Amino acid sequence: MSSIKTDITTTQKVDTDVETESQVNSMAGKDDGWFSMKKVIIIGVASIVSIATIALILYLTLPSSSEEYQKPTAQALIGVTKTTVAPSTSSTEGSQQTVAPVALVTSSNGSPTGSTENSQGVTESTVAPITRSTEDSQTKKLIFVQVLFRHGARAPGRLPKKYQKYFPRGGGELTDRGFNHSHLVGLFLKKRYVDSGFLNKSLVNHEMRWFSRQMSRVLSTASTIGSAMFRTPEQKYKTVGVVSRKDNDFLLTGGISKCKAKKKIIKKRCPGLLNKHSNSEIEALKCLDRKPKIFETFNVTDSDMYINMYRNNVPLPDNVLQHYKEIAAGYLEVRDFNNGVGDSELIQIRFGLIINKLLNDLTKAWESHLSNTTKRKFNAYSTQDWLIGGVLDAFSVLKYLQSILPKEEPNYSVMIVVELWEINGKPFVKFLYKPEEITEENHQLLDLTTRIPGCQGLEDCPLEVFNKCCDSHRLDLYTYLQKCRPKENHSKDSAEKDATYLDF
Ligand SMILES: *[C@@H]1O[C@H](CO)[C@@H](O)[C@H](O)[C@H]1NC(C)=O
Ligand SMILES: *[C@@H]1O[C@H](CO)[C@@H](O)[C@H](O)[C@H]1NC(C)=O
Ligand SMILES: *[C@@H]1O[C@H](CO)[C@@H](O)[C@H](O)[C@H]1NC(C)=O
Ligand SMILES: *[C@@H]1O[C@H](CO)[C@@H](O)[C@H](O)[C@H]1NC(C)=O
Ligand SMILES: *[C@@H]1O[C@H](CO)[C@@H](O)[C@H](O)[C@H]1NC(C)=O
Ligand SMILES: *[C@@H]1O[C@H](CO)[C@@H](O)[C@H](O)[C@H]1NC(C)=O
Repeated sequence: MSSIKTDITTTQKVDTDVETESQVNSMAGKDDGWFSMKKVIIIGVASIVSIATIALILYLTLPSSSEEYQKPTAQALIGVTKTTVAPSTSSTEGSQQTVAPVALVTSSNGSPTGSTENSQGVTESTVAPITRSTEDSQTKKLIFVQVLFRHGARAPGRLPKKYQKYFPRGGGELTDRGFNHSHLVGLFLKKRYVDSGFLNKSLVNHEMRWFSRQMSRVLSTASTIGSAMFRTPEQKYKTVGVVSRKDNDFLLTGGISKCKAKKKIIKKRCPGLLNKHSNSEIEALKCLDRKPKIFETFNVTDSDMYINMYRNNVPLPDNVLQHYKEIAAGYLEVRDFNNGVGDSELIQIRFGLIINKLLNDLTKAWESHLSNTTKRKFNAYSTQDWLIGGVLDAFSVLKYLQSILPKEEPNYSVMIVVELWEINGKPFVKFLYKPEEITEENHQLLDLTTRIPGCQGLEDCPLEVFNKCCDSHRLDLYTYLQKCRPKENHSKDSAEKDATYLDF
């Protein structure tokens, strides 16, 4: 349990992404061309991503690039002056790739063991070698991995003039800290999945797919992590391709805006949120059963600014600093409310499609493994705190996490990891979480597998059990479109066509 600390240090914290209903509305833009939008994506994004990538490469390779910035006056910009490329720890060329001895808990009858929970009910997982064997000849082989991470440290969305000097890339953008810590996530994934031999270290595109919301800090995070994962001293310029979709991003925008079913639910919970010109945080406060006291003194709409300043080590006014914990805790309540946490109906309509995809892809990966046609081994989703929160809630582990972690939004660079293993010929799932921002190369992940509904007591959860975890939070695209756009003529066919983006 060493990875969970409840103390809050003075510098490093959690963070939030701001996503209001009205922002979603404006971002989703026109909803016409429902089924014709999909082509836009890959090329459009490819160019954005390449720009981000080039920028990143320059940043990492040009020793003098830091001088282009004004000398930062606060620690917020730590990382600007240090420009050396992180040494890659890639394994030596000829090293054994497939077998790694591991202190894996196994039972002698070859079936997965009951959990070895510690007092907090969570076990830890360290390294995942591709295959593990034990004396009693139980064999484990990693088959498929899905990761969802939050972008790195970022500037506040609304940035008053007096704070702009701390955030030279502008409001909402990644800070240098954010790039650096995204890079560390990549080094962790490199060690776990590339150096171990699970993924081809040459970078083979058909082995993986990287999805990102189309938003610069999220795209930059994906390309930063991808390059850290595959770069070697010999090949410094590799990075992954990232796909993204501006309109009708079914996966990473929490349910597109014009959804009848979603509106209906929100109308019941908090009608003020449907007013386009109202501020979602102020409206949510009115609807909360218990309004956090702190927002009698502080304006709730300033919370995002304070939290992102604090987490980037930018000096805060004294009165804010004194009440920082209460602001962060109060703001979490407001955000959870707006996100739908605890409301199954809203969670389903907002996150049902990505939950469905995560679960379906496990099954597809297992089937292709059985038929010896495996291509895809790794799917990555570059995303934001509210989506991470929604997904954790859909898997019924968010309440638990919030009970053991500080009351604040998820840290930057947090990550959910879902692994599919073959154990003695049968498929099993692990559900892991990294709540910390800073990632060690051998980072200890929280193992939440035994907390997934149906998986109680199973350190490795059988795929068929895991797959039933979340039926009430799951939605296929056809049903989703029927619920959201009842007036349109949807057919399973057209939904399937539009679901290209959702393809495994
Ligand atoms: C990156 O982050 C790590 C962990 O916070 C820190 O030790 C390191 O100095 C940072 N590197 C740069 C170049 O800022
Ligand atoms: C990895 O890719 C290289 C080509 O880039 C290929 O020669 C090699 O066979 C691949 N290895 C595996 C294990 O697929
Ligand atoms: C809080 O700030 C918002 C702008 O961010 C403003 O619209 C609102 O009126 C403020 N509320 C109070 C009570 O000052
Ligand atoms: C897949 O390969 C294994 C061993 O290489 C073989 O035993 C099995 O029959 C193959 N399955 C199919 C469906 O081809
Ligand atoms: C954020 O990270 C800090 C430092 O790693 C950790 O102590 C804290 O528990 C994390 N907060 C949350 C909400 O996960
Ligand atoms: C609905 O779509 C189907 C197939 O796309 C078509 O055959 C049918 O005529 C359409 N119905 C209406 C009422 O537009």
